Amino acid sequence: MRIAFCCTDTRPEPWLEGLRAALPQADVSLWQPGAPPADIAVVWAPPQQFLDEQPQLKALFNIGAGVDALLRLRIPEHTAIVRLEDAGMAAQMAEYVCHALIRHFREFDVLEQAAQRGEWAYRKPRRRQDFAVGVLGLGVLGLRVAQALRQFEFSVHGWSQSPKPEAAAWGLEAHAGWAALPTFLSQCQALVCLLPLTDQTRDILSRDTLQQLRPGAYVVNVARGAHVVDEDLLALLDSGHLAGATLDVFRTEPLPPEHPFWRHPRITLTPHTSARTLRDDSIEQIVGKIAAWQRGEAISGVVDRERGY
Ligand code: NAP
Ligand code: GLV
Repeated sequence: MRIAFCCTDTRPEPWLEGLRAALPQADVSLWQPGAPPADIAVVWAPPQQFLDEQPQLKALFNIGAGVDALLRLRIPEHTAIVRLEDAGMAAQMAEYVCHALIRHFREFDVLEQAAQRGEWAYRKPRRRQDFAVGVLGLGVLGLRVAQALRQFEFSVHGWSQSPKPEAAAWGLEAHAGWAALPTFLSQCQALVCLLPLTDQTRDILSRDTLQQLRPGAYVVNVARGAHVVDEDLLALLDSGHLAGATLDVFRTEPLPPEHPFWRHPRITLTPHTSARTLRDDSIEQIVGKIAAWQRGEAISGVVDRERGY
């Protein structure tokens, strides 16, 4: 079996070493233009040239959870697209979102500023029952985040495409489909976006949806920048309808220096780092799936191109 590795923004050697160690029978090589045809590819943001030169690929393993960028390329129908599922990202995402929301809820940001001024400044405790959190997307990452928030006894609402009858057992209030979105939003004092970027979810964090949140709501976007209509978010922060936002992802990355998000006093931002791809975990998952696939077993994480995730 021949495996081609083609990732534009990562050092290839450790990946090649890891894949070769785990798959000693396979011929694993770094793709170069004109390379011989491979059976399987391990990719992140490959150029179109790679796909045009490798039309025989049986499977394409994406070393990330989101496949929005990959689906913009021309990929033959017979090539299965397989994404990472968790692979060490879910715990990181849970840490990130809990940190952002607890920092806001407990006003640690305000306390830090007071401490810098040398002030011993108590804040009146906020009522937990007034801080319901909504999680858009109850997939691998959204569900883990929702469960982590439940550990802190926040009430958590989730929104997904398909109904989740099992959600009550997880302590969540689940809502499904567009018709349920207004009810979901109207109950949330904080909103976390963990949706895949698709034609349906692009621009979902717009004035129309964000103004349905409870006044003074807090927004965390850890999914994709194009979920947010930047000017609508800024307008609602400036009007006071939103108390603040933590943003990890942006329409253009790196975020251009002139973008107003950098200087907004109520935006906390990080450079697309909420859940990083972990090499060892990813290789273990990909190798496990390749082995299952070779045995003729069904594997999870295969992207449904119609749905877009
Ligand atoms: P996933 O397992 O595929 O879950 C996606 C969830 O979104 C599912 O619950 C799905 O509903 C729901 N959904 C999709 N389209 C919907 C729609 N139109 N209406 C309502 N719900 C919809 O994905 P994941 O692994 O949790 O990852 C989610 C996203 O996180 C990725 O696509 C990626 O963009 C982002 N991400 C960001 C980082 C970072 O560092 N910032 C890292 C990793 C991932 P169903 O359950 O009904 O299918
Ligand atoms: C990162 O953003 C990913 O999709 O894994």
